Amino acid sequence: MAGRVEGKVALVTGGASGIGRGCAERLAQEGATVVVTDLQDDKGAQVVAAIEGMGGKAWHMHHDVTSEQAWIDVAAAIKAKHGRLDILVNNAGIGISGSVLDMTLSDFQRQTAINLDGVFLGVKHSIPLMRAEPSGGSIINMSSVAGLKGSAILAGYCATKGGVRLFTKSVAMECANAKDGIRVNSVHPGIIETPIWDTIMGTGEPGDNARPPRAQVLDAMTAEGVPLGKKGYPEDIANGVLWLASEESRYVTGAELVIDGGLTVK
Ligand SMILES: NC(=O)c1ccc[n+]([C@@H]2O[C@H](COP(=O)([O-])OP(=O)(O)OC[C@H]3O[C@@H](n4cnc5c(N)ncnc54)[C@H](O)[C@@H]3O)[C@@H](O)[C@H]2O)c1
Repeated sequence: MAGRVEGKVALVTGGASGIGRGCAERLAQEGATVVVTDLQDDKGAQVVAAIEGMGGKAWHMHHDVTSEQAWIDVAAAIKAKHGRLDILVNNAGIGISGSVLDMTLSDFQRQTAINLDGVFLGVKHSIPLMRAEPSGGSIINMSSVAGLKGSAILAGYCATKGGVRLFTKSVAMECANAKDGIRVNSVHPGIIETPIWDTIMGTGEPGDNARPPRAQVLDAMTAEGVPLGKKGYPEDIANGVLWLASEESRYVTGAELVIDGGLTVK
């Protein structure tokens, strides 16, 4: 049986860890050739090895999503190898927590450069590759529940994720007007167990006495805020991304796919 994204070429940024890794593996399982890009080369290579180990196709490229030249290089490499791009998952991101009064301008700008500028650059340099084929494409931008509602300790992060949400809808309209067959949607994860929480909340590892371990913090947040009563895992987001990447969602653009166990409903 053919996979749900059989023969497609997919790029996943931040694909070496967490949700990006989950997306890369799920897309590869369903037949896509996956380009895994990240700052973390060792982990990126591990993801490629895992995908190849299960019979899938993938390759890794070092990539800083804040650099326009890096995006030009990634797009050129994909064009040279495959001639086109079908799926872009703009996933790379960081989270910096704390009061706005304590946040430095350089941290605010660094977070925005990765979470929002990186998404802009990804869209800008991927659309021409997608237009190389009349079949169009699917762009999936990783926002967050923090792009839908405010958080007292994540103002800068919420600003980037809210920006991703409306940027997505605007590009969706631009592509729809162009009738280029490119659909653009955002995904809004809730509390998902990944290493990003180590930087948002502190790790609780030896030497960090101020915080309990990550799992404990997430369990407490989940008990308080998630109606389904459990935290999510990268595969929960990857399944939604796979659907948006596939033809099953061919009539969906400019939409927000919220995967949060009901957190934003409560
Ligand atoms: N985990 C959650 O609960 C959650 C919830 C909502 C949204 N998100 C979003 O999901 C996305 C993935 O996060 P995650 O939870 O998997 O975190 P993660 O830390 O496990 O993975 C993020 C990846 O992005 C990479 N990255 C960071 N800066 C980069 C840069 N400049 N260029 C290229 N790669 C870079 C990191 O090296 C890392 O591999 C992020 O956009 C995050 O904001 C996560």
